[in-house]
Amino acid sequence: MIRVILNGACGRMGRSFATLCENTADIFIVAGVDENTKTARHSFPVYDDIGKIRVPADVIVDFSVPAALDRILRYALDNNLKLLVATTGHSRSQLNDLRLASEKIAVFKAANLSVGISVLSRLAAICADALTDFDAAITETHHKNKLDAPSGTALMLKNSITSSGPPSRAVCINSIRGGTVTGKHEVVFLGNYETITITHEATCKDVYALGAIRAIRFLSSETAGFYTPDDLFMTNSGN
Ligand SMILES: NC(=O)c1ccc[n+]([C@@H]2O[C@H](COP(=O)([O-])OP(=O)(O)OC[C@H]3O[C@@H](n4cnc5c(N)ncnc54)[C@H](O)[C@@H]3O)[C@@H](O)[C@H]2O)c1
Repeated sequence: MIRVILNGACGRMGRSFATLCENTADIFIVAGVDENTKTARHSFPVYDDIGKIRVPADVIVDFSVPAALDRILRYALDNNLKLLVATTGHSRSQLNDLRLASEKIAVFKAANLSVGISVLSRLAAICADALTDFDAAITETHHKNKLDAPSGTALMLKNSITSSGPPSRAVCINSIRGGTVTGKHEVVFLGNYETITITHEATCKDVYALGAIRAIRFLSSETAGFYTPDDLFMTNSGN
C-alpha cells in the first residue's frame, strides 16, 4: 500500500485524483492539504498546513499552485518522502530547488501526466529534427479558470522542438482561455507549400489523475533522482 498526502486536495484535480483513489487498491490517501479547507468533502482529513499532518506517508502528490512548492518540498525533505509535482507555472529558481532536492529524494515533475502528450512531444521532436527549415508554432486551449499561460505543457513542447531541431528556431505559442476545455495542444510545422499539424486533446481531467496513479507506482520503487513522464511512458505505453 502506497500512502499519499494530497496537496491541493479541494481543487479540480485534487478531487478527481481522490475519487479515482477510492477504487485503487494499492494507493491510500492518508491526508490532504488545501488553503481552502471549507470546501473539503473527503473521506480523509484535510489540513490548511502540511506541517499539521502527523500520520506517516510515502509520497506527496501536488496539484495546487506554484506558491505551495517551498512548503511541501521542505516537508518532503524533512520526512524523506517522495514527491510528485503535477502543478505547473513554477519559476526557474523553484525548478532549480526541485533539482537540488532530487539529490536526496525521488522527485517526479510532470507538466502533463497524459501518455498522449508524452507521445506528442516525441513526434514534435522527430518533426523538429527532420524539418529544420520549417517554421513551428504551438496553440494551446484551456478552460477559463486555468491560472498559468502559456501552459506548462506548451513550454515543454517548445523545449522538445528547440532541443531536437535548430535551437535558434522561433516557436510562437498562442494561448486561448475559455469555456470548459480540459486541455488541447496543437503543434504546427509550416514549410513551403506543406504543413504538418499534430494535435492532442484531453477530453476529461481523469486522464491526468490516471497518469498520477501510474507516476506514484513508478516513484514507489525509485530512489533519489529527478524523473519525468519520459521515464514513465518511454518504456511502455499501456495502462
Ligand atoms: N501535470 C498535469 O498533468 C496537470 C493536469 C491538470 C492540471 N495540472 C495543474 O495542477 C494544478 C491544479 O490544477 P486544478 O485545475 O486542480 O486547479 P484548482 O484551482 O482547481 O485547484 C488548486 C487547489 O489548490 C489549493 N491551494 C491554493 N494554495 C494552496 C497552498 N498554498 N497549499 C495547498 N493548496 C493550495 C486551492 O485552494 C485549490 O483547491 C495547476 O497548476 C494545473 O496547471 C497539472
